[in-house]
Amino acid sequence: MGLLIKNGMIATDSAVFPGDILIEGEKIAAVGVDLSAPDAQVIDAAGKYVLPGAVDVHTHMDLDVGFARAIDDFYDGTVAAACGGTTTIVDHMAFGPKDCSLWHQVREYHRLADGNAVVDYGFHGVFQHVNEVTLEEMKEIAQKEGITSFKVYMTYDYMLQDDELFRVLRAAKEAGIVIAVHCENHGVIQQLRKEYVEAGCTQAKYHPLSRPARCEAEAVNRMIHLAAMAGDAPLYIVHLSSKEGLHEVLKARAEHQKNLGVETCTQYLTLTDEMYEDPQEGLKAIMSPPLRKDADREELWQALADGQLDVVGTDHCPFHYKKGKAEKQYGAENFTKCPNGAPGVQERLMVMFSEGFMKGRLTLPQVVKYCCTNPCRLYGLYPQKGTLQPGADADIVLIDPNITHTFTAADIRGASDYTCYEGMSLTGDIDRVFLRGREIVKDHTFLGKRGDGRYLHRGKSILA
Ligand code: URP
Ligand code: ZN
Repeated sequence: MGLLIKNGMIATDSAVFPGDILIEGEKIAAVGVDLSAPDAQVIDAAGKYVLPGAVDVHTHMDLDVGFARAIDDFYDGTVAAACGGTTTIVDHMAFGPKDCSLWHQVREYHRLADGNAVVDYGFHGVFQHVNEVTLEEMKEIAQKEGITSFKVYMTYDYMLQDDELFRVLRAAKEAGIVIAVHCENHGVIQQLRKEYVEAGCTQAKYHPLSRPARCEAEAVNRMIHLAAMAGDAPLYIVHLSSKEGLHEVLKARAEHQKNLGVETCTQYLTLTDEMYEDPQEGLKAIMSPPLRKDADREELWQALADGQLDVVGTDHCPFHYKKGKAEKQYGAENFTKCPNGAPGVQERLMVMFSEGFMKGRLTLPQVVKYCCTNPCRLYGLYPQKGTLQPGADADIVLIDPNITHTFTAADIRGASDYTCYEGMSLTGDIDRVFLRGREIVKDHTFLGKRGDGRYLHRGKSILA
């Protein structure tokens, strides 16, 4: 019978125009003006913006960090995503047991997500050791599972050394796979954390001081050069947080570095290290990299406005603050014991719409580009996802720009008991959300059901 969304302001990554969208089955059948379909159910979108369902390519659902586990599993976390207008996620896997095959975590993540996720989902693979076997497994997994991106870390226990990073990049280049990288200089961070703790400086405010912006900049710079030396390997820098890191990216752009994608996250655009001043409240924002200063935020916004960055993600990875095991409180006496990560998957599109578009920092097509379309282009999902064109999945979000709302923890639809955006006034309300033509959110209520999300076998990135 079909569905006809009429009279909305359609927003794509290149334009905003009044029009209608006809959906047949799971797909968009037509986009145009004055469309008619006598048998279709009509949805009046007058006064609303109509965007592609948003795509978050940096989440950590159910992340097991050994001493704690992220409290949003694939059900709760994707309900939160849906209620925030995000209809697709690509999740970053946790590390598996020492020396495990790369297949181990692929199987584990299917076990966690299949039958639970309520939005469509894919996975990024992860390297924790490098040898001929794991390099071969990367290629196999890309072919058989459509996992066409793998993550490497330059810090944490399973960080890779430069020779290993170089080998991964070379193999990825050969196979057309994207390498996503967490850039922070491990040695400096380890030394500073040790010194702060030995000096009794254990409050949350020492978290950012132990991970200075230059740690990010050094690692970004190193990785960019390693990728170039690996034959312009496809490289994607996750969660860029600082102006120092950004300057390395801008330098690489000016020197025409090939196949480079760069992501920042909502929190680095809108929050600052002032959040760490209160030793208790500060625990909520312990994440890596840490929140930075106003000047960093401003330069990141400018870089988005100038088209120098590619994606806005979230790094969604919540732990309870007070509820249940209150894992964030492990850091109450010593910030190094606090599990890293914070919620954000529900907030991202609303915050970007409000702080980006409504405040005039970005155009609406830019918001669509960074939150919906580019994530798909860079991670092999385009044009199935992230776009409003005939043939694409009918993943659609309606936003009402006439509603202003103060966001609080009570609005969270996942398992998190807090939001980093507490008290933020947000203009633009997520009005209705459709996943492959079915309505999954209306009036802030989730209407879908467990397991409705479909696994996405991804294709090649535009970087590869
Ligand atoms: O603090 C963060 N970002 N936690 C999630 C794991 C990671 O580092 O990506
Ligand atoms: Zn992450």
